[in-house]
Amino acid sequence: MKLKFAAFALSSALVAASAPVFAQTADPGKIVEIQRALTGNQKARPSGAKGQCFAGTFTPTAEAAALSKSAIFAKTSPVVARLSVGGGNPKVADATKTVNRGFSFRIDDGGRAETEFVMVNAPINFVKSPDQMLAFLQARVPGADGRPDAEKIRAFTEANPETTAQGRYLASKPVPGSWVGVNYWGIHGYTLTDAAGVNRLVKFKMVPVGGEVGLTDAEAAAKPADFLVDDMKARIAANTAAFDMVVVFGRPGDEATNATQQWPDEEQRPTTRLGRMNFTALAKNEACDERIFDPLNLADGIAGPTNDPLFTARQPAYAVSISQRN
Ligand code: HEM
Repeated sequence: MKLKFAAFALSSALVAASAPVFAQTADPGKIVEIQRALTGNQKARPSGAKGQCFAGTFTPTAEAAALSKSAIFAKTSPVVARLSVGGGNPKVADATKTVNRGFSFRIDDGGRAETEFVMVNAPINFVKSPDQMLAFLQARVPGADGRPDAEKIRAFTEANPETTAQGRYLASKPVPGSWVGVNYWGIHGYTLTDAAGVNRLVKFKMVPVGGEVGLTDAEAAAKPADFLVDDMKARIAANTAAFDMVVVFGRPGDEATNATQQWPDEEQRPTTRLGRMNFTALAKNEACDERIFDPLNLADGIAGPTNDPLFTARQPAYAVSISQRN
């Protein structure tokens, strides 16, 4: 089927974004095996191990319904969301600077369509492919003496300089003082399809309605290890725990399948607001732990870059992971 793209968004990269191509890549099961080994084979997630489940609502804007025929943009829908602190340590201190914050959510319009995103508080990922992720992890596997081999890590980093960019981004920002006080990005290029069949390449971002809440390193050091849930309780009680879902549009020539790169001037591009997500209550963690948040689960009218092996490796990796945790 030939797909139509809006005139301003037409490029070969965009057309390619809609054609499923499943390249030969590293086995997601192998990646998870090493992730788990490097994080102590504990029972929680090997990534985003520490987190809390929440209930909420998503209310779309009129612009969203015009840009995408997805049922989630037709009316207010319930949300199940999990906010997390990155890495595989379920006891990591909430104010740790070197790990990302995660935001996974499922918008469920009541059975006709679900849409799930798994985002982080950085506009780029640390690897661009499952192969690179496997090599990144393998370089960190301890040697016979039980220690990581600094020379192996240095050689990998030298050959793969883009793998340091996400860490540098996080290091350049204040420590998030609230889970709802920081921006989160979907990172991948997605395609919105409107009722007339016109496709537009976009990137998703969740923008905190109350603005960013950043801590200095000294403030972060003074925070209790588990302050983020208490912060959320206070903000939910005050009805101020909310995000705007926005998109920026792709332009001809924009790369849709390299998660280690932002588009040129991406941060300066105008955004379009697709809706508001309000957090209404803490939820039992079972509601977030009993199934994965599946980046491939998108309601008709929103599509992920199925020609990007990094994107398509996520669901199989998460499926392996849930079978091995708890
Ligand atoms: C090949 C690529 C990737 C692999 C193999 C991978 C692996 C994993 C695994 C095994 C988990 C635990 C899942 C579970 O037990 O439910 C996880 C969770 C997570 N990943 Fe990834 N990941 C990949 C790419 C990404 C990217 C690109 C992002 C950011 C856009 C991301 C963000 C997250 C977040 C936020 C969580 C926590 C999920 C939750 O709250 O349930 N991952 N990842």
